[in-house]
Amino acid sequence: MSSEWVEWMRQYGEDSHQARRLRFVQEAIRAALDRAPPGPIRVLSLCAGDGRDLLGVLADHPRARDVRARLIDLTPEFVAAGRAGARALGLHAIEFVLGDASVAASAEGAVPADLLLLCGIFGNVSDRDIRATAHHAPELCAAGATVVWTRGRFPPDLTPSIREWFRDAGFEELAFVAVPDSTASVGSGRLVAPPRPFDRAVRLFTFLPDAERPASRARAAGLGPAGPAGAVATATDASDAGPRGT
Ligand SMILES: C[S@@+](CC[C@H](N)C(=O)[O-])C[C@H]1O[C@@H](n2cnc3c(N)ncnc32)[C@H](O)[C@@H]1O
Repeated sequence: MSSEWVEWMRQYGEDSHQARRLRFVQEAIRAALDRAPPGPIRVLSLCAGDGRDLLGVLADHPRARDVRARLIDLTPEFVAAGRAGARALGLHAIEFVLGDASVAASAEGAVPADLLLLCGIFGNVSDRDIRATAHHAPELCAAGATVVWTRGRFPPDLTPSIREWFRDAGFEELAFVAVPDSTASVGSGRLVAPPRPFDRAVRLFTFLPDAERPASRARAAGLGPAGPAGAVATATDASDAGPRGT
């Protein structure tokens, strides 16, 4: 698992699709922090990698010291890098946890969150799990929380359904961005329905084996991108997926 994702993270080169996606994820994070009322801002990031999306914003955001965050990832290198990054910024309320984020129990003590990050997950799990994660998201959120999620728009483009699932769960869509020159997309929404009680027993998703991941299957089938901003899907184009289409 580890080395696979280390390779994925290397693709955050300056002009990569991932770097372009990152800018839109960070825009959504920045907007959420800008909107946050005075006081602590709780952030939960599942499968957070090295947390560069959040840390990149906190580096120069005036609310950085109000943020209390838990970022969870299974890859030790990322967790170590994230911890070093937070330390370098002098942010002591940013907690990187080495662990399994697929179970709600991993969020215990860090919820309800005002900002929930679900980035780089939905290309690696089943459609049913995406739906379940959207459905359970209000159990991780405070009233008015923002959710930010990503998913490649490779065919069959699931993003219309994902947007609907988040709406059904009680999130009003704030933005949906088709990342230019990429199949990547970034969605964000605000919880307008009442939050639901946290249930630590919930399993949110399970990362599928490489060959079974949606992006891998799309590439194996030679399918091109979906959506107006799409270019030909390549191994690095399915932004939620790992280096070999994971
Ligand atoms: C596609 S990367 C996304 C990383 C980050 N969110 C980003 O967008 O840059 C997927 C991440 O999920 C992590 N991961 C996979 N399964 C996990 C699990 N069950 N619990 C926590 N992290 C997991 C990997 O270590 C990897 O960092």
